[in-house]
Amino acid sequence: MKNLKTVMMFAISLVMIVTLAACGAGKNEETGSGSAKEYIVATDASYAPFESLTEKNEFIGFDIELVKAVAEKGGINIKIVNTPWEGMFATLNNGDRDLLVSAITITDERKKEYDFSDPYFEARQSMAVPNNTSIKNFAELKGKKVGVQTGTTGDEVVSKLMGADSKDIRRFETTPLALKELENGGVDAVVADNGVVKYYVKNNPDKGFKTIDEPLFAAEYYGFVMKKGNTELMGKINDGLKKIKEDGTYDAIYNKYFGE
Ligand code: ARG
Repeated sequence: MKNLKTVMMFAISLVMIVTLAACGAGKNEETGSGSAKEYIVATDASYAPFESLTEKNEFIGFDIELVKAVAEKGGINIKIVNTPWEGMFATLNNGDRDLLVSAITITDERKKEYDFSDPYFEARQSMAVPNNTSIKNFAELKGKKVGVQTGTTGDEVVSKLMGADSKDIRRFETTPLALKELENGGVDAVVADNGVVKYYVKNNPDKGFKTIDEPLFAAEYYGFVMKKGNTELMGKINDGLKKIKEDGTYDAIYNKYFGE
């Protein structure tokens, strides 16, 4: 009888400890298993369907599933941490983050300062506009107010078209904020990656937006970003990426998010 009581007390304490530990694990963070080195992954989780947060504050999206699969096959532990887009690259150099996974386009400019993994996704810029717009193509954005996420490739193409210090370019911290401004009528168009624009337009039919694809935009390729010279991590990431492409995991994740 006394034994039973002890066992029960022990079990109850155990449950409490586990619950407390789970609660204390913190929001906007996801930890892999194991006790080996843990690589900290930065993502700007405001870019569905690549990375976003569920109502329960869990990471979800193509990039999230991809990096988890890559880490598993590459044999590393990761912890994903929500990180603002602005300043994200700098977190590599100050050691706060080890890897950026955020639908990041591989560009020559960025390659000067950071290392990229092998490409894992092809994208293009695209425009979100109101259904009743007169705008028919990218060139017609000149003289109109255009929303972009600061420092993205969308910002780059619009800056090229209109001049980087044009007052007609409205820069936002996140792409959803730019889309909100389109809804409010503060901008005439938003330029961002096609996957994100299409997903938003499709899932928010009440907003009355449509997508305009511009055939003149060059193809962009997403890569994982690391600090220059981090060859150990780079090897594991590219190895994991190769393995999930070979074993069908990549295709399964791709079809889940982009299969028609
Ligand atoms: N592909 C674009 C770029 O690299 C936009 C990426 C934005 N990603 C994000 N999670 N906000 O500039």
